[in-house]
Amino acid sequence: MKENANIYIETFGCQMNILDTELAQDDLSQRGYSFVEDPKKADVVLYNTCSVRDLSEQKVLSRLGIQSQRKKSGSDVIVGVLGCMAERKGEALQKEFPVDILIGPSELDRLGDLIEAQLSARSSTQKTTPESALSNFKNRKLKVDPARPAELDAFDRGRIIDESKTGAQAYVRITRGCNKFCAFCVVPYTRGEEVHRHPSDIVSEVQKLTDAGAKEVTLLGQTINHYRYEDTGFAELLRRVHDECPELPRLRYLTSYPRDFTEDMLDAMAECERVAPFLHIPAQSGSNRILKKMNRGYTRESYLELVRMAREKMPNLTIVGDMIVGFPSETDAEFEESLTLLQEVQYKTVYVFKYSPRPGTVSGKRDEDDIPIAVKKSRNNRMLDLQKGITLVQHQALVGQTHKLLVESVAKNQGLEPNPTSNLVTIGSKNTERRDTLLQLTGRTVGDHIVHFKGERSLIGQIVNVRVEEARGLSCSGTRI
Ligand code: SAH
Ligand code: F3S
Repeated sequence: MKENANIYIETFGCQMNILDTELAQDDLSQRGYSFVEDPKKADVVLYNTCSVRDLSEQKVLSRLGIQSQRKKSGSDVIVGVLGCMAERKGEALQKEFPVDILIGPSELDRLGDLIEAQLSARSSTQKTTPESALSNFKNRKLKVDPARPAELDAFDRGRIIDESKTGAQAYVRITRGCNKFCAFCVVPYTRGEEVHRHPSDIVSEVQKLTDAGAKEVTLLGQTINHYRYEDTGFAELLRRVHDECPELPRLRYLTSYPRDFTEDMLDAMAECERVAPFLHIPAQSGSNRILKKMNRGYTRESYLELVRMAREKMPNLTIVGDMIVGFPSETDAEFEESLTLLQEVQYKTVYVFKYSPRPGTVSGKRDEDDIPIAVKKSRNNRMLDLQKGITLVQHQALVGQTHKLLVESVAKNQGLEPNPTSNLVTIGSKNTERRDTLLQLTGRTVGDHIVHFKGERSLIGQIVNVRVEEARGLSCSGTRI
């Protein structure tokens, strides 16, 4: 049975989940499984889930509803919930839905064994019992098994890196977990305590990806600039990766925590020429009272001072932010302070989230979710409208300039605005057009601005020069030169 078992895996949420799915797929394909793109044709259906907002969880619940129907009509499909939602909801989820495998984000190395157990139970007369591997980070007072970091490191190192598989863009984890406990956020309870990877492992992974053809590597951590491994802090790590992987054209990192920046880190960025002048530093709010309630540990003023210092060192810096609207008790005036923060920072992009109470978090327990949904929606739209104008001005400033683009994909809707949140290289599988057909392609500048231009499909994954000619709210267009 095992050799024939087909797996379908779907990913929800953040870049960390995209990487986790890739690692899980590598592990499972080394065990002999193959993957299908249609869940109906799969013997094992896996969802790698996100719990950051209720909406992310609702999507998974509706998928689970479909799989339960399938089971009711006699299918013996194996259903697995992986990631944050498994960890957050725990075995309670197995009471609501017939979930066979439940596995937390820090237990993914156990996935192969759990699938095997389910398959062999099905091929015998044994009654199958649901299985779970959870870390129980909800109770962070419990000590983590000291053997786990090494086992998880092995999981990260098990990644398949070769020229046929590695895309132009790749993610590399440097830290697991988060120690910050922002009042609204579930991540510390689902991904657990911060654990940093050995700098040599990180450098060697980036080097292998570069050798296999990666043009851009993004280092990942929840509060990435909090990285420390013995004497190596984030600034040293960045310099090491940059200097020891001289063939890598672009290096970037996500996500920074405002309070953790040191001048040294910004200097390292400014001095390493292949490190993109790009920062993702969520502010979450522009109001000091709300920031305090969020337990963010910085003020509007100190955030703006960081932005000023970073821009002074890197005049061509682009900054991306996250903002939460409708945090409990947020007044109109406090929301206006978030809007003025957008103007002062001049973000390239802002990801706006409507507050969603998460069970178990400080805010979920302490605060009444008192901002009506209609108000959250209108604040959300006002913020997005404002940001569109700010981005447009930045795009207009690019007109007439030539930029190096990393070509990502054929533009969706040929010429219309692409999905701005997609960071993935999607290499088209259908190659029916003539080799020299000119298509509308999408690429990103080193500052992460999206530019469309006409070119051949074979340019996907390459870095090309494009002169920017037209600016729009979400993207620009130009001509290859
Ligand atoms: N440091 C992480 C943050 C993970 S959560 C990172 O890598 O981005 C991503 C974003 O989701 C946060 O920055 C925040 O803006 C938003 N978010 C988190 N919890 C939320 C909640 N309860 N309601 C609404 N948005 C939330
Ligand atoms: Fe969440 Fe705050 Fe950590 S947003 S991931 S608790 S930095």
